[in-house]
Amino acid sequence: MKTKILVTGGTGYIGSHTTVELQQAGYDVVIIDNLSNSNIKVLDGIERITGIRPDFVEGDVTDVATLRALFNRHPDIKGIINFAASKAVGESVRKPLMYYRNNLVGLINLLEVMPEFGVKGIVFSSSCTVYGEPDVNPIDETAPIKPATSPYGNTKQICEEIIADTIRAGAPFKSILLRYFNPVGAHPSAEIGELPIGVPQNLIPYLTQAAAGVRGELTVFGNDYATPDGTCIRDFIDVVDLAKAHVIAMRRMLDNADSAQLEVFNLGTGRGLSVLQLIESFERATGVKVPFHIGARREGDIEQIWAEPAKANNVLGWRAEVDIDDTMRNAWRWQLRQAAPQQ
Ligand code: WQD
Repeated sequence: MKTKILVTGGTGYIGSHTTVELQQAGYDVVIIDNLSNSNIKVLDGIERITGIRPDFVEGDVTDVATLRALFNRHPDIKGIINFAASKAVGESVRKPLMYYRNNLVGLINLLEVMPEFGVKGIVFSSSCTVYGEPDVNPIDETAPIKPATSPYGNTKQICEEIIADTIRAGAPFKSILLRYFNPVGAHPSAEIGELPIGVPQNLIPYLTQAAAGVRGELTVFGNDYATPDGTCIRDFIDVVDLAKAHVIAMRRMLDNADSAQLEVFNLGTGRGLSVLQLIESFERATGVKVPFHIGARREGDIEQIWAEPAKANNVLGWRAEVDIDDTMRNAWRWQLRQAAPQQ
């Protein structure tokens, strides 16, 4: 009998890639998604890769009645991976209440319902944004949590605290917090990938659209930072590597009786790359030029951050494996399959 996992936000970018890896690892997956920032056609892509169409519930985790109805239909769900959240830093500054409601109420509902249905654990999609601007790099899990620089980042910090407090109060389940660095790329099949709606906020989707000529030049937000080439440095982690880490975390939480009730892991490659170095990687990997120009800094950008992944490497037995040039090739192949984006 397959272990059944609920993936909230499972038609999203990281959620869909994680669903594929869960299915290929032998798990049964149910997805709930309100399709506010994704497309139901993602289910077709998942099925084309794995041959298994996940059960799908169109719904909102902020509605506890919807959640209870789902669990009544699937009382055998043993674990949850919670991706369902709003995640655009800039938008969160403009619409803080939407972010606090979506991201906090959704998690609270899940934590409340879990004991009612004997759910054993929840993996939480967190972010390196909780560290703010690091004092030193690479950054490990003992680094201080700094005051958030956006409501989005604040929701990630608060959600981590909500989980910790709930477990401290005696909750009958485990949790693993996964702090992502910068997820990039697409599945090598080019059947699923990043599907930004409107103007991409993140670097890679904008870069690939500019390279495809379906959007204007990429603006590199500033080259006057205190870094070797003046552009910001990030830890770009392949989305399939990231998805695999979730499967390992879920297996550890459900099957390893000795693992702690609450654990935190940084998920990164351990290598910092600048924006210009990423552009070079893309051009080397694809032979396609990226039309770009240097523009002004973007408000709120962190100068440099990259992970110390030793804990995830040693405790989870997980390591980022995909070479950045391969990641860029996959991102490009995915882009070539897209229709012209909405302007
Ligand atoms: C990366 C670098 C930009 C766009 C954010 C969130 C983080 C996570 C990932 C959700 C920066 C530069 C970007 C462009 C550019 N979100 N850039 N031109 O800001 O590191 O992280 O997204 O989980 O929590 O904070 O990612 O891709 O927006 O930017 O020069 O058009 O690329 O200045 O240095 P970021 P990003």
